[in-house]
Amino acid sequence: MSKRMIATIVALAVSAGGSLAQEVKVGVVLPYTGVGAEFAQQMDRGLELYLKLNADQVKPYTITLIKRDSKAPNGAEAKVVVQELLTQNKVDAIAGFSYSPDAIASAPTISAGKKLAVITNAGTSFITNLSPDFVRTSFTMWHSGYAMGVAAAKTLHAKTAVVAYTDYPPGKDSLDAFKNAFEANGGKVIDAIPAGGPGAVPDFTPFFQRTKDEKPDVLYVFVPAGDHALAVVKTYAALGMRAAGIKLIGPGDIVQDIKLQGMGDAAVGLVTMLHYYADLDNPQNQRFVAAWKKEYGADSTPDFMAVGAYDGMAAIVHAVRATKGTMDGEDAVKSLLGWTFDSPQGPIMIDPETRDIVMNEYLSEVVKGPDGKLHEKVLSEIDHVKDECKAQAIGPCAPKK
Ligand code: PHB
Repeated sequence: MSKRMIATIVALAVSAGGSLAQEVKVGVVLPYTGVGAEFAQQMDRGLELYLKLNADQVKPYTITLIKRDSKAPNGAEAKVVVQELLTQNKVDAIAGFSYSPDAIASAPTISAGKKLAVITNAGTSFITNLSPDFVRTSFTMWHSGYAMGVAAAKTLHAKTAVVAYTDYPPGKDSLDAFKNAFEANGGKVIDAIPAGGPGAVPDFTPFFQRTKDEKPDVLYVFVPAGDHALAVVKTYAALGMRAAGIKLIGPGDIVQDIKLQGMGDAAVGLVTMLHYYADLDNPQNQRFVAAWKKEYGADSTPDFMAVGAYDGMAAIVHAVRATKGTMDGEDAVKSLLGWTFDSPQGPIMIDPETRDIVMNEYLSEVVKGPDGKLHEKVLSEIDHVKDECKAQAIGPCAPKK
């Protein structure tokens, strides 16, 4: 058969609405191995669970996930697999990116491929400015960091803070966000301590000892969740910092739901800001957590990464339906501008100007429940929070002219 004949048959099948037209291929880029493997599992499960629970929404299309490992959190492998997915697998969309360097390094390739790319975790604010094809359903470090800066000054009445942060783009972003809001509300950041990188968990002792000597009211910490977070809470306890009058606060990344029970009593009393905790009390979340436990085991729990992916798949399914399965990149992105969704985290929207998420933030405290387990108790809620870095057009967050 000649190439021309094959092309004609394919075209006929497509125009007749045959199975070829119905398959939408989504490339999934996550760190399935290495330090981020647990994050990949959470996001992979979030993507799959949305598809399973919403099979009716997906019909008549079939969504095929093509999964690739982005490995170490430095962007090198992510960029390669994004290129392969777009040029060899010819995917219709990309989803994933656990770590900011993975999304940053892939941005030029994404732009060249002209396909929708949904960020389901990477939180550095300016990432969405790097490609018109990025839409983010996760968060930015400014959502939590800025809101926590306000709360530290106004709710916790802190006057001084030390910030310790993992030294890569989202860490710097979280520092800037917290400092901007805390100082605008009368506080003072007296020290900012780079505390290792995302690849290996550092010993936090020297950073926290320095903080203890400086005696701030609060220590605000950003680390990329996971075992970093576990080490933060253990070191804070080991150095007796609470007894020394220093409150540990941060974005909810430092009390990631999958790590919370492992933190033990050292975590009780920690106050954090985030858009999602598995304990959130709303009907969508109750259904989501119950479905998760049914699917993945009674002892498993979703966390903010799982929700970023669940919402990300909801966004992709919306785009598939809106474009009638063509998934033309520009049309797919356009279909998501102003898109709203009743997420387990509460109502979310994609800001039509920035392609970033607008969502609620929850100030929360770790408490021990009657079941003997640790829980997140919501202290207050801030609705419809936008990314302040873009709202204030700070540095690389300013829109490209
Ligand atoms: C990121 O690399 O952007 C990142 C990773 C883990 C987090 C937050 C942000 O918990």
